[in-house]
Amino acid sequence: MATFIKRAEVPLDGAMTLPGEYYKSPEIFSREIERIFMRGWLCVGREDRVPRPGDYVLQEIGGESIIVVRENAGRLRAFYNVCRHRGTRLCEAHQGKFSGTIQCPYHSWAYGLDGHLIGAPSTSDLPNFNKADYPLHAIAIEVWQGFVFINLAETPDPIEPVFEGIAERAAQYNLPNLKVHRQIAYDVAANWKLLIQNYSECYHCSPVHPALARLTPPTSGENDLYEGPTLGGYMRLNDGIGSMTMTGRACGVPVAADLPEEDHDRVYYYSIFPNMLLSLHPDYVMFHTLWPVDAGHTRILCDWLFHPDSLARPEFNPDDGVDFWDMTNRQDWHICEQSQLGVVSRAYVPGPYSSRECLSAQFDREVLKALEK
Ligand code: FES
Ligand code: FE
Repeated sequence: MATFIKRAEVPLDGAMTLPGEYYKSPEIFSREIERIFMRGWLCVGREDRVPRPGDYVLQEIGGESIIVVRENAGRLRAFYNVCRHRGTRLCEAHQGKFSGTIQCPYHSWAYGLDGHLIGAPSTSDLPNFNKADYPLHAIAIEVWQGFVFINLAETPDPIEPVFEGIAERAAQYNLPNLKVHRQIAYDVAANWKLLIQNYSECYHCSPVHPALARLTPPTSGENDLYEGPTLGGYMRLNDGIGSMTMTGRACGVPVAADLPEEDHDRVYYYSIFPNMLLSLHPDYVMFHTLWPVDAGHTRILCDWLFHPDSLARPEFNPDDGVDFWDMTNRQDWHICEQSQLGVVSRAYVPGPYSSRECLSAQFDREVLKALEK
């Protein structure tokens, strides 16, 4: 199992916050989209968003629209939402069900759920036209612990290194069997990096989250992942506190029957580069996915997962956890929006990270490394 070290022991090496250009320059933003979001493994939510053949969701990133669909054999597939005839978007609704084929609304070319072109009206007289030459443009898709990841690179890096550090811990949380109870979408006027830097430290917890600070000591906990694509560690729950909820009581059964004893008093927080935040509580799991819109705006989806028993039994109130984090999320988004307004000022210059912000500094290093590749 992982070795933990105190936050103050992670080398800061004089780390300073990023220059203002990283929060306002359209050129740097485009580079981030190209080098990070068009190359990395992006979490697009839970596998059960598309439970049956034909079910699909659309995901937009960097001006692209991606169809994630379950094909007849049960496998998940991902395609660019681009017709092979004249390029038209194949579907507009963000979520839905294809009835056996994906049909273009313009001239009715039709594709199987596996992407093959199966119908193209009035093409039989075209010399050398072969439907097999015109499948939808496919992109890589993988499932990890019930979460779906897509990768838009032509030759994607293997996904395994992303989860190397966290795999053993994640395996204890029964993740494939948990069910989504709620999803809330937020549109935040802040750069995506500010939001991950914010998630990566609790230096701000006392001033920004007084209710959170009553449940978990802001200086508690240690990190086990402090370099590489996945960063994080745990924070301790105060004595007598069951979970991160409005009441301070657990709002569900433990997510796994055999959750180790020490983990009943801990919440683990991990950022998974580049767009996922995973928060493992004893009685529920929360995850965020981040979708940069432009240098100053990000769309965030936040989902809460519970053991099915917690949702079926009336003595539990899963909204106790949802309400707590919805309140806390909004506090974070607000302070990040204030931060965005400040870092684009002509007066802003980088400031020193404290030892309690070592993971924010490490995240910045990951960004810079990815931008140079
Ligand atoms: Fe799709 Fe013509 S553009 S069928
Ligand atoms: Fe916060």
